[in-house]
Amino acid sequence: MKHLLTMDELSKEEIEELLNRAAFFKKAKKTKFEKEVYAVNLFFEPSTRTHTSFEMAEKKLGINVLSFEPGASSITKGESLYDTALTMQAIGVDVAVIRHQDENFFDALRSLDMAIINGGDGCGEHPSQCLLDLFTIQEQFGYFEGLKVGIVGDISHSRVANSNMKVLKRLGASLYFAGPDSWFKKEQTTYGKHIAMDELVKNVDVVMLLRVQHERHDEEIKFDKETYHKTFGLTEERAGLMRENAIIMHPSPVNRDAEIADSLVESEKSRIITQMTNGVYIRMAILEAVLKEKK
Ligand code: CP
Repeated sequence: MKHLLTMDELSKEEIEELLNRAAFFKKAKKTKFEKEVYAVNLFFEPSTRTHTSFEMAEKKLGINVLSFEPGASSITKGESLYDTALTMQAIGVDVAVIRHQDENFFDALRSLDMAIINGGDGCGEHPSQCLLDLFTIQEQFGYFEGLKVGIVGDISHSRVANSNMKVLKRLGASLYFAGPDSWFKKEQTTYGKHIAMDELVKNVDVVMLLRVQHERHDEEIKFDKETYHKTFGLTEERAGLMRENAIIMHPSPVNRDAEIADSLVESEKSRIITQMTNGVYIRMAILEAVLKEKK
C-alpha cells in the first residue's frame, strides 16, 4: 500500500488487515520503525478529529511530526499543492496526510515517492473515517455480510457517506438511506433504497447519521434546525423504536438537536465517542501500512 487515497483502491484483504492491526494497537500493542520517520499533516480545511487523531497516531508510533500551517506557508504566495508536497518530499518527509477542498486533489500527487493519505477531499472520499467506522461496526457485530446499515441526512454532499456506501455494499451489508430527497443523488440508489426515517430506524442494525454540510451547499437552502430534527433527525422518540442491539454512529462534528437529539450523543446505543477513540488506532494501522518498507 503506497498511498491511501480512496476505498475503491483497497482490496477486502487489505481492509481486513487494517482492521486487525487497529485491534492490535487498541490492545496497547506497539510497533517500531527501524529508521527515523517523518510525517506532516497538511490540512487546508478545518478539522478537529482527523487532524488530532492522525497526530496522536503518529506520536504513538514514534513518528516525528512537522508542523504546517497553510495560512503561514508559501501557498499564500501562489504555491501549488504539488509544489508544497514536492517540497515536503525533498526535505525528507515520508508521509503526508492531506485534507483539501478539491475532489481528487491527490491525482496530481500519485507519482510522488512520499506516501499520501487522503484526510478528506471535498465531497469525494474520507477513507480513514470509513475505516474507523468499519472498525467500530466490526467491534460491535463482528461481521458485515447481511448487516443492515441506514445512512441518514446530507448524503449527496458527504464524503463519509460516499466512502462508506461503496465499501459496505462490497462487504455484503444492506444499505438504506433517509433524509431530504434533494440531498440524495439518483445514482446512489445503486447502493440502497431511500426510505422514510421512521421506517429506517425500526429496521437497521446501524443508524449512521451525517452532519449537514452547510459549507458545501452552493444553492441557497432554507434550513430550519427544528424542522430538520423533527423530519429527519434521530429524536428520542425515534431512538426508542430502534432494534435492541442497534447502534448509533455519527462521524462528528455533531449538530446537536439537528441530526441527533443532544441527550442521545452519549447514550447507551451511541458509538460516537468510540468512533473518535477508534480513529487513533485505525490511523496507526494506516500509517504503519504505508510506511511498511521503512520498518
Ligand atoms: N469526522 C471528521 O472528519 O471530523 P473532523 O472534520 O473534525 O476531522
